[in-house]
Amino acid sequence: SHFSLCSVSSVQDETMDKMKFKKCSQIAFYRRQKLLHPGKSLYRALLDSVTLSNDNVKFQIINEENKVPLLVEIYEIEGNIFRVKINEVAPLRTRYEVPDVLIKEPTTKRLSVTQKETNILVLTSTNEDHKLHITANPFQIELESKDETILSMNSSGLLYFEHLQLTPKNRCGTGSAKENQEDLGLWQEVFGSFLDVKASGPSSVGLDFSLHGFEHIYGIPEHAETLLLKNTSDDDAYRLYNLDIYGHKIHDKIGIYGSVPFLLAHKPNRTLGIFWLNSSETLVDISTKAVMEVRGTQGSLVPQTDVRWMSESGIIDVFLLMGPTAFDIFKQYAQLTGTQALPPFFSLGYHQCRWNYEDEQDVKSVDAGFDQHDIPYDVMWLDIEHTEGKRYFTWDKKRFRNPRRMQELLRKKKRKLVVIIDPHIKIDPAYTIYSQGKSKDYFVKDRNGKDFEGVCWPGSSCYLDFTNPEVREWYADLFAFQTYKGSTDILFVWNDMNEPSIFKGAELTMQKDAVHHGGWEHREVHNLYGFYQQMATAEGLIKRSGGEERPFVLTRSFFAGSQKYGAVWTGDNTADWSYLKISIPMLLTLSMVGISFCGADVGGFIGNPEPELLVRWYQAGAYQPFFRGHASLNSKRREPWLFGEKNTQIIREAIRERYSLLPYLYTLFYRTHAEAEPVMRPLWVEFPEEVETFGVEDEYMLGKALLVYPVTEQAATEVDVLLPGSDEVRISKNIQSLIPVFQRGGSIILLKTAVGKSTEWMTDISYELRVALDSKDSAVGELYLDDGHSFQYLHKKQFLYRKFTFHENMLSSSCADGNGQYSTKCGVERVLILGVRQQPTSAIVNYQDGKNKDIIFTYDDKTSTLTLEKLLLNVGTNWEIYLK
Ligand code: NOJ
Repeated sequence: SHFSLCSVSSVQDETMDKMKFKKCSQIAFYRRQKLLHPGKSLYRALLDSVTLSNDNVKFQIINEENKVPLLVEIYEIEGNIFRVKINEVAPLRTRYEVPDVLIKEPTTKRLSVTQKETNILVLTSTNEDHKLHITANPFQIELESKDETILSMNSSGLLYFEHLQLTPKNRCGTGSAKENQEDLGLWQEVFGSFLDVKASGPSSVGLDFSLHGFEHIYGIPEHAETLLLKNTSDDDAYRLYNLDIYGHKIHDKIGIYGSVPFLLAHKPNRTLGIFWLNSSETLVDISTKAVMEVRGTQGSLVPQTDVRWMSESGIIDVFLLMGPTAFDIFKQYAQLTGTQALPPFFSLGYHQCRWNYEDEQDVKSVDAGFDQHDIPYDVMWLDIEHTEGKRYFTWDKKRFRNPRRMQELLRKKKRKLVVIIDPHIKIDPAYTIYSQGKSKDYFVKDRNGKDFEGVCWPGSSCYLDFTNPEVREWYADLFAFQTYKGSTDILFVWNDMNEPSIFKGAELTMQKDAVHHGGWEHREVHNLYGFYQQMATAEGLIKRSGGEERPFVLTRSFFAGSQKYGAVWTGDNTADWSYLKISIPMLLTLSMVGISFCGADVGGFIGNPEPELLVRWYQAGAYQPFFRGHASLNSKRREPWLFGEKNTQIIREAIRERYSLLPYLYTLFYRTHAEAEPVMRPLWVEFPEEVETFGVEDEYMLGKALLVYPVTEQAATEVDVLLPGSDEVRISKNIQSLIPVFQRGGSIILLKTAVGKSTEWMTDISYELRVALDSKDSAVGELYLDDGHSFQYLHKKQFLYRKFTFHENMLSSSCADGNGQYSTKCGVERVLILGVRQQPTSAIVNYQDGKNKDIIFTYDDKTSTLTLEKLLLNVGTNWEIYLK
């Protein structure tokens, strides 16, 4: 009953089952690569061809079967990174290399050849710490660090590279019969009623890596999966392909909205990173096993994880991040792709969203509800219904007649507005964005050169080609206040549906044979589409402010480097306990791959959470980086005060805790922006030698100082929290209203002593310093502060970065970065010192000007807490407090 491929002309069949997504075995390039079996490689290196320059080492390898030569380039990059590129020596057409993701051409170092024989070439890094052993036949590369083999490439012989070929003339002839038989999908591929015509033919690439001694593997979001990557089996690889899967299941390796092809491996003394820079559909196989390692006469079983990357097209371009610590890896990755943009302060507050807040009156009353119930919040959100028929950048004339008036109301409350702006453009000649896009030829094309048409919220739509820099520039200009009518400077943006989502498309996304700027097929750039939209949006918001103000843009789809443009959320989760639970490993995974500003919809987008779940979700969300309540069109109203006084009280308390913690959180965001330290981090990152932490995903660290264990169990009466370095503690008291959060001994955090209606109301509220002593009676911490909204911290160095130290009974405030200056009236009013063994007899403060003063204090010997009160210490000046 096979129909002839050549006769398929209608691409989109209306009857396509909405929920149909491919299994791996339905992906042709996966099937083709799987025909290779681990064993001897098909490739041999031609070591005679080696050339060495300041930049790299190059040589050719040849496929013994088809004799097609490939060029291998090996680079050492500053900061303990190696890069391996493999491309055809003479491709028929240029193969796609991912642009715009690396923030700059990496700075290379000169490798040296330290051994060269017929079958072996040894390259040594500048500092001599690393050696690359290249074996010619069969071709493989081993990476050694100080005599320990860390990683090998192509040791399973799975290097795979489909060279570009001439289009077979008569595809429907005998060749295609053979193709059908073997089901290789070389020149075209069918899925359901969809035909994908491959203009360039097969172009898949793949490579295997063996990670010696490693069994704990992380990263490669986005999957609704555990923190630790699982072993894959046939037909069940981790998929990196941005898809809009409504009601996605959990514990599934199918790709959802975003992809970051970056994987981390950890063992007690070392962390390693592999960044596979490819934006086409990618599958990753993971297999951990024990292997016999022989040293001298002794043999022992050690773990080894084999990781196999397979991409549909492009080239092999892989970065090996050598750590050795997790924090080194985060820095190395940031050196390549950039760090998290520093968010405007307001965006760390609570966000109130729903699909939809109906009209201006609705917005007004929800906004007032927060004040009535004494719950702080910063941002009101408007979903797609605020527009005129899903024409983005417009307002529904009936519901939102006067958007400026509405924004003035919010502005008076010192709050912001976020509106949704999706990438699909309604086909309507009367809609300026469509007609301009059309006349400027800014839409993605189908394989026949016509504007690609797909169905999304507005009905038939075209899709802006954000891969084109000219389109991005034009798009950015649409955010100018005079162009975007009804927008003001308190309006920020949410980019959704940017996988891109296409309701009647293959797997609900764009045909892979659609064509982008430069003639590139969609298959090459698929995973970059959302990345580019967010980039253009962020640039637009910066531009509209004359380059002064930091943007806030939330995106659903993302790629490596998206952290530079704003925040990411995990999409359409379900109001079910299991989705609350999985939000933690999902966010930890995003955090490890550079996307620190991430969150999951509080309450669960789909369905209706029971009050207990909603309350628990607020408690968890309050300690996650991006904190937004959201609900679907079909969900009942669930503003925080709708579930009775008791629940309102607990939610209020959770949100208020969040707000008092903001000085600490903002400091963490500065650290992630400046130093690439994730805000939310798995325990193992902070306790890299404690094996029992390696798989923990129900608790995590917020910065270095706080350990958070959100309760995600229904009707919990107690929780057991693992405290690394000590034991487990069981918590049962007040468990209903409690968020178990622990401050780590040795840390100092700053909090606000009170909260306000929104972050902007809190600027002048004083600080509390919370000192938790370690076993040596010491502690350190810091505070970052700036105006919270502009780029002055960067361009004019208007910031404060302060350090607080407790050591030998003295608490001191000092400068942590002399380059910054920012004046604040804000003082430290209270100091809490936890873990003080004995009541001091006196406490004296020394001011910068040499004056000193006695301080009033109280000591609680039950909790070993010393409280210093009624202080008036400026956070921006130096002072010391002595305890005697
Ligand atoms: C899908 C998004 O994931 C969801 O958050 C949003 O409410 C709907 N699209 C409608 O815009």
